[in-house]
Amino acid sequence: MQEKLEQIKQAALSTLESVRDEAALEQWRVAHLGRSSALMGVFDQLGKLAKEERPAIGRQANEVKQLMEARYQETAQKLQNAALMLTLESEWLDVTLPGRPVGRGRLHPNSLTMREIYRIFGEMGFQTYRSREVESDEYNFTLLNIPPHHPARDMWDTFHTTTPGVLLRTHTSPGQIYVMREYAPQPVRVILPGMCYRYEQVSVRKDAQFTQVEGLVIDRHITLADLKGTLNDFYRRMFGAKVRTRFRTSYFPFTEPSGELDLECQLCKGQGCGMCSGSGWLELLGCGMVHPTVLQNGGYDPQEFSGFAFGMGPERTTILRYYIEDIRYLWTNDLRFLEQF
Ligand code: DAH
Repeated sequence: MQEKLEQIKQAALSTLESVRDEAALEQWRVAHLGRSSALMGVFDQLGKLAKEERPAIGRQANEVKQLMEARYQETAQKLQNAALMLTLESEWLDVTLPGRPVGRGRLHPNSLTMREIYRIFGEMGFQTYRSREVESDEYNFTLLNIPPHHPARDMWDTFHTTTPGVLLRTHTSPGQIYVMREYAPQPVRVILPGMCYRYEQVSVRKDAQFTQVEGLVIDRHITLADLKGTLNDFYRRMFGAKVRTRFRTSYFPFTEPSGELDLECQLCKGQGCGMCSGSGWLELLGCGMVHPTVLQNGGYDPQEFSGFAFGMGPERTTILRYYIEDIRYLWTNDLRFLEQF
């Protein structure tokens, strides 16, 4: 019996050495430690042994069983570790690799100018107000004292939509009406920035889309002197205290009187160059005293209130600030251009 137990042990331990995976290990357990294994057979026969033999054989059988169980546990642990190592290796991730660089956005050169304009007007006590880019004929023209069929409509080449009476705004001036209707009869001091659209022949100097910053001031005693003072102050804050401006008379249906403001060319300092077509001056904006009809359309009594308005084109300033030679670069979204700012 002792020899038999020794054989059982040797056979079991040597087959255990060739076990390579968990399924084979389970088979081994059933074969060598299971109910119908040779070892269990020995336990079953213990009762038939002579009384004096029993304790020694019983002890030996127990030792063999404990040893085999211990080896079984060791092997199971080894297989588990090996499986873990395998997954770690196949799902390996190098967390020390440098990441892919994320492109850093930047502000469009015209946005830089716009922000400068907001900042200066903000300091001067102006609120910023926005109105829609898709506009009605009524707000874009009629309420600004440009009735249907009025020849002044020719001043704005308009993109019409397929819906009658709906168009892309040709200027930011319709925003004046919204502001007035919202705030009348309180005094207002606002700028209205935004994109405008015109059905233009695109060239180095003109694009079919461009931004404008409209200004509107209404109170009880606003005069032309306020208009000139405000705009001169603005351009001094923008280009420096020595900057020179000049006002010329002009015509706009929504202002009376109307004017245009020129700034001394900042490229040639008034000497005359390609930028200013040799004149030494750059046209920067249209302006004037708000027409009584427009005040009325906005809900103000022209007997009691007066106001001034202006509309400037920030692209002119952007081009000046960054020496951009072709206005079309601004809105074609070419990264080679945009990444330079
Ligand atoms: N809206 C005009 C344009 O686009 C510019 C303008 C002129 C605006 C005079 C004004 C103004 O507010 O008073 O040509």
